Amino acid sequence: MPRNIKLKNEQDEAERVEKTVHEEDDRRAVSDLAAPDQAPSGQKKIAWARAHMPVLRQIEEQFLSLKPFQGERITIALHLEAKTAYLAQVLRSGGADVAITGSNPLSTQDDVAAALAQNGVTVYARYGMDQAVYTSFLDRLIDLRPTLLIDDGGDLVSRLIERDEPWARTIIGGAEETTTGVTRLKALAREGRLPFPMVAVNDAKMKHLFDNRYGTGQSVFDGIMRTTNVSIAGKTVVVAGYGWCGRGVAERARGLGARVIVTEVDPVKALEAYMDGHQVMTMDQAAEEGDIFITVSGNIGVIGSRHFPRLKDGAMLANAGHFDVEIDLVALRSMALDWQEVRPNVEAVMLEGGKIVYVLASGRLINLAAADGHPAEVMDMTFALQALTLSDLIKRARAGCRLSPGVHAVPDAIDQEVARLKLKAFGLTIDALSTAQETYLESWQIGSPNITEEHK
Ligand code: ADE
Repeated sequence: MPRNIKLKNEQDEAERVEKTVHEEDDRRAVSDLAAPDQAPSGQKKIAWARAHMPVLRQIEEQFLSLKPFQGERITIALHLEAKTAYLAQVLRSGGADVAITGSNPLSTQDDVAAALAQNGVTVYARYGMDQAVYTSFLDRLIDLRPTLLIDDGGDLVSRLIERDEPWARTIIGGAEETTTGVTRLKALAREGRLPFPMVAVNDAKMKHLFDNRYGTGQSVFDGIMRTTNVSIAGKTVVVAGYGWCGRGVAERARGLGARVIVTEVDPVKALEAYMDGHQVMTMDQAAEEGDIFITVSGNIGVIGSRHFPRLKDGAMLANAGHFDVEIDLVALRSMALDWQEVRPNVEAVMLEGGKIVYVLASGRLINLAAADGHPAEVMDMTFALQALTLSDLIKRARAGCRLSPGVHAVPDAIDQEVARLKLKAFGLTIDALSTAQETYLESWQIGSPNITEEHK
């Protein structure tokens, strides 16, 4: 593209940011960034994401005029890439003070972090941050005493609970992005240790049916293909776990020409995988057959010490579950005769007998560590849910009916609204129920049609 031609949305973005520069700059904490000079590249990425997120753009318009978050402090722990940055900006457009950290050490894009800080969000995030730095960033977010929060995987909420802050009870509420995070929140709630309401955005229809399935399905292969440059066609792909993410990964693998094996512990899901046309077997069996393994189970040690010796020479191991615990890397390290990086995000591990297996992206989320995460059009729906969920929490609180502590579902009206906005963005129209159809659906009296004379 010639240097003097700017994407229309880049121009819009610059104008929009200028228009919404906040008066409360002095109240903002200082960001912690790895590469402030890379902000121009980050701005372009955010502009590109924004151009492909029409639902969130409509919400941004509403927020700019209604300012639903005026006076609120929102803290976010999410994978800090361009779509997330745009979400943070949208929340800021709604009048909030927004602060953010990444939710995984390998998913933060330093140029995006720098651009976001330039756009008025407080950012504590660095690519490659170690556990101590990650925890210190979570602590800095917590020190800002959020009134609303967004979490991805449950680390922000868990850290808050660990710190046992008495003011945590005053948090209006938050929203959780992932299956893993919702599982952890439910465990906290069961123990009576969740002091404020958290909404399970992951479980909304407009999230898991699209983000988990189509988003993970596509972005996982984006990560594997960018990283390895190998063909998927003709390979045997083993998918560990057949939840919504696993379904999407298996479907995309098949679409790319792979033979697909699914491993499961849940008999219903295993049967579903089988009826969807995939092979189903144990990991012990699959270990000997797979060329590419993708763990997406949400559990620990899915591929472990008893599987490594069975793997074929050249087998590749990738993880798409939230934490880097699905492939037992501790066991693999103890069995390795040699371990070397052979390409960015590809480590070659030599096992007994000289066999080589490859670990991709250090066993961390392949789609975010080695690619850009889910497509913008998909995250458009997820992040629209996040934005509307926070706005709903605040509306309820201001109307004097705060949600109680615990895990809550996204209201159906929000799911429906995001679906409506997305259909509109795609230019699609759908039928509406007639009055007779509404009556039919609400009645119990109308059963089988009356048998008329002519049918007798
Ligand atoms: N981009 C930002 N957050 C993401 C997530 N949870 N999964 C995939 N891509 C993302």
